[in-house]
Order: sequence, then C-alpha cells, then structure tokens
Amino acid sequence: MNNNNNLVALLGIAEETAVSAGNLIRQMWSQPRAIKSKGFRDVVTDTDIATQKLITDAIRARFPDHGFLTEEDDSDLPIDGPVIWVIDPVDGTTNFSRAIPTFCVSIAAVSAENEVLAGAIYDPMRDELFSAALGQGATLNGQPIQVSLIDDWGDAAIALDWSRSSDLRKSILDFLDRVAHQVNTIRAFGSAALALAWIGAGRLDGYVNFQLKPWDLAAASVIISEAGGKLSDLSGQQWGYSPNASGCVAGNGRIHLTIDDE
Ligand code: IPD
Ligand code: CA
Ligand code: CA
Repeated sequence: MNNNNNLVALLGIAEETAVSAGNLIRQMWSQPRAIKSKGFRDVVTDTDIATQKLITDAIRARFPDHGFLTEEDDSDLPIDGPVIWVIDPVDGTTNFSRAIPTFCVSIAAVSAENEVLAGAIYDPMRDELFSAALGQGATLNGQPIQVSLIDDWGDAAIALDWSRSSDLRKSILDFLDRVAHQVNTIRAFGSAALALAWIGAGRLDGYVNFQLKPWDLAAASVIISEAGGKLSDLSGQQWGYSPNASGCVAGNGRIHLTIDDE
C-alpha cells in the first residue's frame, strides 16, 4: 500500500483537507461559540463538530473504503479499512473556546500495520501547514524543515501541556521541579499537536505530555521523524502508533528529556 504514489496521494489529501478545515475554523472564529462540556476539564465547540464533518466528508469522497479514528464521536464513520484516518479537528479546543489563537487541525493516515504514512498539521491563525510522508521529508508551507541543533540543556526551549487529571498534574509539577532549573525556558501552549509540529520546525527543542490520545500524536509523529527528531513514550522507547492513549517525549534527537530522576 505504501508505495510512493500512494504516499503522495495520502499526503495530498491530508494537506488539502487540513487547510480547508482551517478555513472553516477561521470563518467561525469571529462568531459566538456553542460550547459544551464533554468531561472533566474538557469542552467541545460547534466548530470542532463542523470541522470534523468537513474533514471526514472530504476523505470519504476520495477514499470510500478507508476507516476513521476521530476525536469527536460519529457513529456514521467506518472504523476499518486499508488506511485509517486519525483526526483531531481542533487540537487546542480550550484555547479556541476562549479565543486564544493557538490551536491546529491534525490529520494522519495510518496503515493497517500501525505505520503512520502521512500527516498534516495546519495552524489556521498563522496559515502554517506542517506536513510529512514516510521517507519524503517534512515541510512547512512546502519548504523543508528540520529539528533544531541545540545540544546543551542550558540553551533549550522546551514545552509541555497540563493534563486534565489532578494526579498527572502532580507528576508534571515534579518533572518541572527537576527540569526548570536546567533549561533556558519552558512554555505551555495548550495544543500538543502544534507544539510537536514546532519541534519538527526547530522552534522548540523538547516537549513532554503525560497523556495524549492517538489523534494528538499521529500526524506529529511522522513530521518529527521526517524532520530528524525523536518521539518516544514516557519510558524513552521509540513511540509507535496505537489506538490507545499514551504519554510522549519529543525532541531534536540531540537532547531528549527524561521523566524519572536518575
Ligand atoms: C488537548 C491539547 C492539550 C493537551 C490535552 C489534549 P484538545 O487536545 O492537545 O495540549 O494537553 O491532553 O487533550 O482536547 O484540545 O483536542
Ligand atoms: Ca487534541
Ligand atoms: Ca480536539
């Protein structure tokens, strides 16, 4: 399945659809938001739902036999197929709901063997499209990108995001207590996929999240690896796609954060 022609076709539709989705988000940006709670410290807006529908309709029209794993529930979507599209229509919904302009669309095509074949992450507020396909390199708006060359913790700009769980927040505070003294600076942007794309673009040197869903990570994983970086799980083993939640550590491959004090 993953010959070059197929990869190019998958990448093309991921990119095109991410940008169309971003255009819709931009149109809805200045309108009042319908915001609903879907769990503890977790909201969804009418824009998340409309954007996901735009994405899945476009992909189904092009690849009717493909399956889907999407953040927002949609019982109409097939779950199986030779390729599974893993989609977060708005990564950074809390930011979007509060008109904080830091969020993105994340779309990945994953093979039946759990290999991420292509991914696109689009930031509609900055008109920045990060994308990659296996073995084809990573780009930002069509230009090749690479991870940073930073190899000294004292120069490193790292990011993390706060978990919803209070227990995990305690673990993050422990992590910060150790790492904050070693690095140049630390950010928390509220959109994991976008921060991971920024690792690929060399803007950040490290990123940690104690619990993410596959749709937060899938597109970013191929962007980071194709940009020369490293994505691991919390134990430092190379991250591999699975439909389950997992933590992640990302970096430029020269310096890589660890979770437990050694
Ligand atoms: C969230 C963001 C956030 C991360 C959360 C995610 P959502 O995604 O990526 O940065 O810390 O764990 O759930 O809900 O805005 O799509
Ligand atoms: Ca997300
Ligand atoms: Ca989301």
